[in-house]
Formats: sequence, C-alpha cells, structure tokens
Amino acid sequence: MDSSTSTSATDARKTEASAKSQETLTVTDNRTGKSYELPITHGTIRAADLRKIKVNDADFGMMSYDPAFNNTASCISRVTYIDGDAGILRYRGYPIEDLAEKSTYLETAYLLLNGELPNAEQLKDWTYHITHHTFIHESIKKFLDGFHYDAHPMGMLISTIAALSTYYHDSKDIFSKESRQKQTYRLIGKMPTIAAFSYRHSLGMPFVYPDNELSYPGNFLNMLFRTTETRYRANPTLEHALDVLFILHADDEQNCSANTIRGVGSSHVDPYSATAAAIAALYGPLHGGANEEVVRMLMEIGSVQKVPDFIKRVKAGETKLMGFGHRVYKNYDPRARIIKKVAYEVFDLMGKNPLLEIALECERIALEDDYFVKRKLYPNVDFYTGLIYQSMGFPTTMFPVLFAIPRTSGWIAQWEEMLLDPEQKIARPRQIYLGEDTRHYVPIDQRR
Ligand code: ACO
Repeated sequence: MDSSTSTSATDARKTEASAKSQETLTVTDNRTGKSYELPITHGTIRAADLRKIKVNDADFGMMSYDPAFNNTASCISRVTYIDGDAGILRYRGYPIEDLAEKSTYLETAYLLLNGELPNAEQLKDWTYHITHHTFIHESIKKFLDGFHYDAHPMGMLISTIAALSTYYHDSKDIFSKESRQKQTYRLIGKMPTIAAFSYRHSLGMPFVYPDNELSYPGNFLNMLFRTTETRYRANPTLEHALDVLFILHADDEQNCSANTIRGVGSSHVDPYSATAAAIAALYGPLHGGANEEVVRMLMEIGSVQKVPDFIKRVKAGETKLMGFGHRVYKNYDPRARIIKKVAYEVFDLMGKNPLLEIALECERIALEDDYFVKRKLYPNVDFYTGLIYQSMGFPTTMFPVLFAIPRTSGWIAQWEEMLLDPEQKIARPRQIYLGEDTRHYVPIDQRR
C-alpha cells in the first residue's frame, strides 16, 4: 500500500470517527445544571435515553409528551415510505405512480407483504391461493343475515372479520410462518366476499358466490352486482379503475389503522381480531370514513354558487372541509393526483358526477385561500374517491368498505413486521398523571 493511500484511509477513518462523535445530542438540564449526551440514530433519539435525565435518584426520569404521536416514531419499518413535503409515496421503494400505472392490486399486495415484486411463478401461485380462499363458511352467511336491513356495512365487516377468528383456531399460532401465510390468504381472499355479502344483505338480495375465473376486482364486482346473468363480466374500465384504487389504498405507513393493528397485535391476539380493530379505526370520519363524509358534504353544499359560503363556515371553524388535510402530506397527496385521472376515465363511461363541479370549486377556492395554504391543507386520497364510487353505483355506506378491502394487505404487512421485530413489545404508552392525589373513601352519608 503506498503512503498516500494509507494517509487518506486514516483521514477517512478520522473523519468517520469525528462524524460519529457528532451523532449525539447534548442536553443540559437547567434544574440540575447536568449535561447528557444522547446518541442520534437515523436522525432520532431514543425516548428511553431521556430517562437518564433525573433531578435525583428517586426521580422516574424525563419522558417526552406527544399526544397523537405528532413527532414520535413508534417503529422501524421497511414497508412504506412517505415524504409528506415532497408528496412522495413508495411501497417497498416503488413509487405509487409506477405501481398504479403498471401493477395490479394482487401483485402490489404481494410486494407489500414480501418486500419484492413476484416473478411469474410466484404471482401465479399467490393469485391461485388468494382466489382459492374467497369462499366463506356457510354459517357466516347466517351470521350476516342476523344484521338489521339498514346496518352499516363497516359495522358488519368489523364484526364478521372478528368472527373469523372463531372459525380458524390455527390463527392463534402467530409465530408460525405457515399459519401467518394461511391467514393472509384467507383475509385478503375473504374480505371482498364479506364486503359484497354485507352489501347484498342491505338490499335484501341473494348472495353471489365467488367466481374463480375472474380477477380480484372483477370477482368483487360480480359478487356485488350480478343479478340474472349466467356469468357477470364487469366493464373493463370500471374493473381497472377499481384495481388502481385498490393499489392506491393498499398502505399508507403509520396511519391511525396501521398503528391500531400494530398496537392490538402487540398483545399477540390472532390476526382476525387485530384486523377487525384496524377496520374499526378506519371507519372513523377522520380516517377512511372521510370518503363517505365528502359526498355528504358536497350534497349538503348543493351547488357551485354555495361553495364560497361553505368555505366561510369552514374558516370560521364551524365545520371541516372533508377530504382535505393529512397528518403527513403537506404538499399534495400523490394519490389524489392519480385518482383525479381515474375519476375522468369513470365519468367518461358513466357520465359526469353532478357533484364534480362542486368538488372542483371547493378545491379551486381552497388552494388559493390563505387559510388552507398556511395550514398546508390539500385534497387527500378521499376527496375524489367518493365521487368515483358513487358514479360506479356504490351507495355511500360502502365507500369505507372499499378502502378496507385493499388496506388489508398493508395491515398484515405492518402486523407481521411488528411481530417479527425483536425490539417490539406489547404497546403500552406512559401518561402524565394530573388527577387527584391519594384520597380516603368517604361513606355515602357523609358526602356533600
Ligand atoms: N378543514 C378545515 N380545517 C382543517 C382541516 C379541514 N379538513 N384539516 C385540518 N384543518 C385545520 C385544523 O383546524 C388546524 O387549524 P388550527 O391550526 O387553526 O387549529 C390545522 O388545520 C391543523 O390541523 P390538525 O387537526 O392539527 O391536523 P392533523 O394532522 O391532526 O389532522 C386530519 C389531519 C385528521 C386528516 C385533518 O386534516 C382532517 O380532519 N381532515 C378532514 C378529514 C379527512 O379528510 N380525513 C382523511 C384523511 S386521509 C386518510 O385517513 C385516508
């Protein structure tokens, strides 16, 4: 080795060492005057390292307070990447735009769960297994029949998915790879069947059984809409639109329902119960229930002329512009851009949704208005999906169900990653207790 190489290697080592020593955060506690050096890894300090910061030995140590996890990483993940400021969403490194254009939902689900795109043989095998797990036990039909005719399909979906755990006892074996694989086939396979049966029940129509010859979205549309046809074939434009929407909804990193499946799953409950909890989280109007609320809001506004008045009410804090805003996307939700394109494909076929003009006017005003610009509020994935679903013939109550079906693959990917992460334990946040100090029980006749 010549001396110049050796010198530069030493310099490099020195630079590396000095860079390493700078990868720390020095904190001075002004209560005690003591300083602490906390390691920084991936731009993050470990909350547990704050515990060293104490006023005395009896002190519990410093905690961080972060209601709603605004600035707390709860896990290390390799599934989905979002850069909210740049409007980037990637599944396992692949840009959402690429997947929406070139992939299918089932292939994307494989990618999310396995980390790599499948080869031809793997995709065939995966598709075969999902397709051959679409039937549900006949007694689940009786269970669905027990719901009131106007039951919300999300309530039916939550309960029925939870009920699957009573059929598949092997699902408790969560640390067996084979068992997890089997439950994954079942969950992804049966979700559209249960969703479609819930819809048919609400109409009082007979259930349509899965057709193994059809694609994943094609079979779903068949189970929803088939009436007297011997074989139902969905319109290819609608089938494709639904598949793209499924891809866009497959995962969204640590959102409310992903955090739920991780939290509930951390108690080592079976995946059906954990997925039911995630669907419940999705049901809320601030999360997956927003698509339903957007259409209700647009109907309530009623006409383009009334949009400015409605925006005034939003700015006065009387109501929210549903389908706007996102915890992470502070530029533009990249999914909303793709969805707008899909919307026009569907409208070209089915006719323009009369609510579209109102939505466009809301978007136009909001994107120019200081209130929304300052707060970085942009249309999210739910702003246009409702209009597409409505044009495709879905009732509003089915909109969040259409979100839950594809999100199942993301949930299972997040759940499995949590289970196999040696650093994860049962989720158990701390609290700041500001309630009463010890009090003594007062007999009822002595209470004021
Ligand atoms: N309309 C009007 N004002 C809004 C909206 C909205 N849609 N969203 C946020 N704001 C305002 C808040 O009032 C707040 O204003 P302030 O600073 O004056 O108090 C500011 O913008 C910041 O909002 P936060 O509530 O702090 O933002 P957060 O990240 O907690 O909430 C959320 C994100 C829940 C998505 C919120 O934007 C919202 O409620 N949007 C409407 C519901 C919706 O579309 N949800 C779907 C999200 S995408 C999904 O889950 C698939």
